[in-house]
Amino acid sequence: MRKAILVIAGLLLIAGSASAAAKNEELKPVTDENGFNVIEKSGFTFKWKIVEADLECEVSAPTEGWVAVGFNPEKPKMDKSNLIIGFVKDGELSIADHHAKGWRHVADKENNILKSSGEEKDGQTSLAFTIPMANDANGEDAALAAGQKIHLLLAQGNGDNFKKQHKKKTMLEITL
Ligand code: HEM
Repeated sequence: MRKAILVIAGLLLIAGSASAAAKNEELKPVTDENGFNVIEKSGFTFKWKIVEADLECEVSAPTEGWVAVGFNPEKPKMDKSNLIIGFVKDGELSIADHHAKGWRHVADKENNILKSSGEEKDGQTSLAFTIPMANDANGEDAALAAGQKIHLLLAQGNGDNFKKQHKKKTMLEITL
């Protein structure tokens, strides 16, 4: 009986770690006609391209509310991630450079979004933005490098604001 319990516990442990590993798998991107690396997961599309010292990104999700991307070189967690969050209201984009502390996020002292644009169409919100790769902005951004494997966080929420918790979120790994 004791042996059976041990075997079952062991199997559960193996199944648990396998699903945890699958949860943050590395996704291999495809390259589009503009040279962007493209990945799709859980309804989110994320594209990125390194151009000299900068990272050009696009993210879209099926929402009329906010969309966000998080970069975390250390762990698959909101905590300590560099977050870019935005929404489009009446055709106008609001986008901000935030960082997370635990399960909340605040605006960076320094806004390092170099370029941005956004669109809301047919229930889909898309953001395009450029950030510097190497800058860690006094620990408020994640310094990134070409070839580095990082955890990417994607989230969307209801409402045109930066405050509401996500309706949907996912994580994966990518190599920049
Ligand atoms: C006011 C805003 C936010 C609040 C209150 C919030 C709160 C939370 C909480 C309580 C959790 C753990 C429970 C759960 O898994 O649902 C969590 C997880 C998560 N959140 Fe947020 N979140 C916010 C914004 C964001 C943003 C902007 C992103 C950007 C991508 C994000 C991405 C994630 C991800 C990927 C997880 C799972 C990993 C982890 O546990 O850290 N969140 N969030």
